[in-house]
Amino acid sequence: MTTYNLALVGFGGVNRALAELVRDDPDRFESLGFQLKIVAITDLAFGSLVQADGIDIAAVLAMPRGATFEGLPGGSKDPRNQEVIKSSPADIVVEATFTNPTTGEPAVSHVRWALESGKHVVTTNKGPVALHGIELTRLAEENGVRFEYEGSVMSGTPVLRLAKKMFAGLQIEGVQGILNGTSNYVLGQMETGLSLDQAVADAQALGYAEADPTADIEGSDVRLKVAILANELLGADITPQDVTTTGIQGITPDDVVRALGDGKRWKLIGQAVREADGSVAASVGPVSLPASHPLAGISGATNAVSFDTDLLGSVTVSGPGAGRIETAYALVSDIVAVDSFEKGSIRA
Ligand code: HSE
Repeated sequence: MTTYNLALVGFGGVNRALAELVRDDPDRFESLGFQLKIVAITDLAFGSLVQADGIDIAAVLAMPRGATFEGLPGGSKDPRNQEVIKSSPADIVVEATFTNPTTGEPAVSHVRWALESGKHVVTTNKGPVALHGIELTRLAEENGVRFEYEGSVMSGTPVLRLAKKMFAGLQIEGVQGILNGTSNYVLGQMETGLSLDQAVADAQALGYAEADPTADIEGSDVRLKVAILANELLGADITPQDVTTTGIQGITPDDVVRALGDGKRWKLIGQAVREADGSVAASVGPVSLPASHPLAGISGATNAVSFDTDLLGSVTVSGPGAGRIETAYALVSDIVAVDSFEKGSIRA
């Protein structure tokens, strides 16, 4: 059976969830035709660890907060990201560091180093995809490897791969979605009379929010996802700066409750639409939707996207858009795509 060696870059919630799956559920991967071996981990807090024979995952997952890899064979208290990404015996680099919405760094460099050294990259990080997705995909092709990023939009709910593979033969004219679980949860809580601040605190406690929740509330998280959808599914070549963005910070509990009384619900909607001249217009903003709209009934932290297609009309997919296990599943689906590529079957 094929074994893929993994280097985990970032050892926070998502990569820890992937490591737990590797530790607890090897049958899941064997049934897919491969085994996974974690040979390297780098992390700002823990440092770096490279063990070509495979890291004892149970042991590193049990390490307390504040510990480092220093003193372990192949361990260091320093992340040594560049050296580990380029030189470790990994086949696949799993990039799950924090999202930088402005420069995409350091994740963009992590991805470049991996691809240039002939390693596949799977990532949940929106920054590199939204800011440099087209260039990084080209770099992967030049190096004969894959750059996969299903989890950059709607975590493990496979909207990118679904649309790219299963909508073959359809023309997608536009996409419209609820693409941020935190803001949708917050708007729902405001319908019960909670203030925006109280609702954001709840969303943080539940683990939906970004490290800086202003990215969720002011729309910049959705802006990155809209840029990715526009480029991936509508063939645009835009950056997040091209996406006109307004958040939900101006919406009051009164607005939300009044809309509910009128049979409407406020939602933060991200959309990208092909214009008559072929260009793509992309925006993020709060919209008061009538109950009949396919996105009006999407509640809590759930995300959904409606694809406007020429032959099927509107097709809507809903599912989780956040969560550590849900996002780790996106990495699993990306590794399956790498495996298909390696084994010469369908190019994902
Ligand atoms: N903070 C994001 C959300 C997580 O609430 O949807 C995934 O980008």
